[in-house]
Amino acid sequence: MIILGIETSCDETAICIIETGDNSASLQNHPTEKQTNLQSFGQVKILGNQLYSQIALHAQYGGVFPMMAKREHVKNLTPLLEKCIEESNIVKFSKNIKISEEKKEKIQKILIREQGLFEPFIELAEKIDQTAWNKKIDAIAVTNGPGLEPALWVGVSFAKALSELLDVPVIPTNHMEGHIVVAPLTKISENTFEIKSVKYPAIALLISGGHTQLVLIKENLKYEIVGNTKDDAIGEAFDKVARILGLPYPGGPQISKLAEKERLEFPNKIPPHPLPRPMIHSHDLNFSFSGIKTAVLYTIQKIPQITDKIKQEIAREFEDAVVEVIVKKTKQAVEQYGAETIIMGGGVSANKKIRNDFTKLAENLNINFLVPEISASTDNAFMIALAGYLNLKSGKKTEKEFKAEGNFSF
Ligand code: KG4
Ligand code: ZN
Repeated sequence: MIILGIETSCDETAICIIETGDNSASLQNHPTEKQTNLQSFGQVKILGNQLYSQIALHAQYGGVFPMMAKREHVKNLTPLLEKCIEESNIVKFSKNIKISEEKKEKIQKILIREQGLFEPFIELAEKIDQTAWNKKIDAIAVTNGPGLEPALWVGVSFAKALSELLDVPVIPTNHMEGHIVVAPLTKISENTFEIKSVKYPAIALLISGGHTQLVLIKENLKYEIVGNTKDDAIGEAFDKVARILGLPYPGGPQISKLAEKERLEFPNKIPPHPLPRPMIHSHDLNFSFSGIKTAVLYTIQKIPQITDKIKQEIAREFEDAVVEVIVKKTKQAVEQYGAETIIMGGGVSANKKIRNDFTKLAENLNINFLVPEISASTDNAFMIALAGYLNLKSGKKTEKEFKAEGNFSF
């Protein structure tokens, strides 16, 4: 099966084309005659993977502005699709393809909210032989939530327009599920991965700019949220603390770099600016990260001059504090539900200390720990294509009428 994934939920515009080892594909409303070169079921190959990060733009303003993110997605989606088609080489571009006025009108209607998207879309469409494409692509998977709603809509409308152009079905896809499904992969070669089977029950810890959730998974693709943040997400806390310390957006990697330096230089030092471990003793599985950000602010306000050394000390103590909390709560969840596997996903899982501490936790508990490789941890379209594929395989229906939903949840 060949799936095209589209991701525009926040500040990354991404398109990915994957081929799966499942050639028994029988999409309910799209009978397929596609062939696959992969040997076994359970493998996935990236044919094309394109991503444009808006981070440099948003960094100038210290955070992501939804309308600005939307404009950037509109600008970047079509060129990224073109590059992804070239990279995947599954079909060649043609010249002077005719698109009927009726079809153009339909596409224009679909793209009406996304000003400036119709013209480049049609320009690219006029290079695509629709019949050849229809034969190649089985489905389009697009993130329809959660995320920034104006940003999500660009991807959703784009997917629907592409679906209209090529007569290929669309599967709306949960961004957080994408972060989960890329964890159980083993790299076999440059672009090919084996999809490992997961020992259930599993506890997934989802840590990103918008989420901090513990999710119980008892079987494939069945999710139950058992812990959640009451206020800020952990990534948001990293970003806000970085801003307080005068570090650029996104703050997670910056804080992490400083913390690591401090730990290397002073492995055993007692923290000179101790911070709270929010909700660490609460008996539930919930989190709160807004208080620790305020605690950092108060700490800073009491110090007359903030040197680089002090920033480094605070970064380390902040990272130690939040990691201690997520380790403790995850352990609690694992014990409560008898989990055999910990899965970790979301942009914050790129953090080195978090990876190390969770590796140790899983070793101590003698259970599996699955985390995606760093490039698949932050937002990307591979995870969306894969989530779309797994859902299709499990019988989820493709949809024509669906919306972008900013607060979409399991
Ligand atoms: O999943 P993601 O790419 O986007 C959302 O869906 O939110 O996560 C982005 C978040 C940002 O808050 C960023 O600061 C954080 O992930 N992040 C990190 C690291 N790399 C990215 N946080 C801590 N340490 C890192 N190394
Ligand atoms: Zn994400």
